[in-house]
Amino acid sequence: MYDVWVIGPYEIKMQRPLSSFAFAPAVKVKLINAGFHTAADLCDLRPLQLSKESGISQQEAVDVLQTVRCDASQGAGAGSRMTALELLGREQAMGAIVTFCSALDSVLGGGMPVGKTSEVCGAPGVGKTQLCIQLTVDVQIPACFGGLGGQAVFVDTEGSFMVQRVEDVAKAAVEHCSLLAGDAEQREALKVFTVEGILSKLYLFRCHDYVELLAETYLLPDFLSQHPEVRLVVIDSIAFPFRHDFEDLSQRTRLLNGLAQQLAQMANQYNVAVVLTNQMTTKVGSGQSKLVPALGESWGHAATQRLVLHWEGEQRLASLYKSPSQREATVLYQITGAGFRDVLSSDHVSADSSVIPSGNAPKRLRTEADDHQT
Ligand SMILES: Nc1ncnc2c1ncn2[C@@H]1O[C@H](COP(=O)(O)OP(=O)(O)O)[C@@H](O)[C@H]1O
Ligand SMILES: [Mg+2]
Repeated sequence: MYDVWVIGPYEIKMQRPLSSFAFAPAVKVKLINAGFHTAADLCDLRPLQLSKESGISQQEAVDVLQTVRCDASQGAGAGSRMTALELLGREQAMGAIVTFCSALDSVLGGGMPVGKTSEVCGAPGVGKTQLCIQLTVDVQIPACFGGLGGQAVFVDTEGSFMVQRVEDVAKAAVEHCSLLAGDAEQREALKVFTVEGILSKLYLFRCHDYVELLAETYLLPDFLSQHPEVRLVVIDSIAFPFRHDFEDLSQRTRLLNGLAQQLAQMANQYNVAVVLTNQMTTKVGSGQSKLVPALGESWGHAATQRLVLHWEGEQRLASLYKSPSQREATVLYQITGAGFRDVLSSDHVSADSSVIPSGNAPKRLRTEADDHQT
């Protein structure tokens, strides 16, 4: 089932990045530093408020707001629209990146969707980085093997990227394809789908704090224009650079909202799967505490879909939440020397009754109490 919508020209205009307007560079920098990224971020503001929040003068604020509103109103009533059939065709053509865990791929509708943002949440050590690494390799599987033949960007904010691990995962993926190779085209493709080839098409960016991450996200569209074969952008993780208490929590929310909008737009415009990892945090309410994804409720709307990786005893589970097109479900996965993989029925002793491969998701996330039991 596919969600179908028609985006009007006004909405498109409101998503226009402020960086693309002809404002003075100093004004642009101040707006972006204050967390304003698109025309939509300014639509409810008055000049005085904008001037106070961003540090630009009142006259500059008046000019900025007039330019942005004038641009948006010119868009209304004109422009192109898309039929649902065209949209369906476009989404199917974009494809998905397999995870090498077929149970998870079927829950995701074929893999991590290109053109959309997906959030992968979970406690430390559960396998978020491993899944991201697997995706950076799998996105490069040549088209004649049913892959996307793409390239990958990995933005590492935690310093947890291990090139040695990519080598292992890449080696296993190359071996897997070698076993499948039947015709001349596939044998030819294997000449470039090598461990070295994979490593050379994986672009790494290291960001040490949220300012670097925001700057990198701001520069990524240029990079993607110059590297049109990139089909995957990983940010591992979003939570880490935003972990410190912000004096002004609304500033953090605004920065995160801006980031979410930029990433969603980037996914759509450059046909890339954007995969973001997030930590879990304890939420206390009505006498109970439970683990929930970090960064607050507003951030919960940031990605198109949310995958929560968690433990049930010794087993690793992946639960899909809030997908607009797939039903919620929980499946088993494992991490082997070769990477992210299915749990074969002989690999595990007993599955909990709440764990239904490709079935319905459990009604709750893991709680702290669960943690103490494991
Ligand atoms: N070569 C390997 N073989 C088997 N398991 C591995 C290997 N490398 C890492 N792992 C597993 O991956 C886990 C770490 O996952 P990681 O993705 O780094 O977690 P996080 O969710 O914190 O990003 C470890 O618990 C380890 O069990
Ligand atoms: Mg990690």
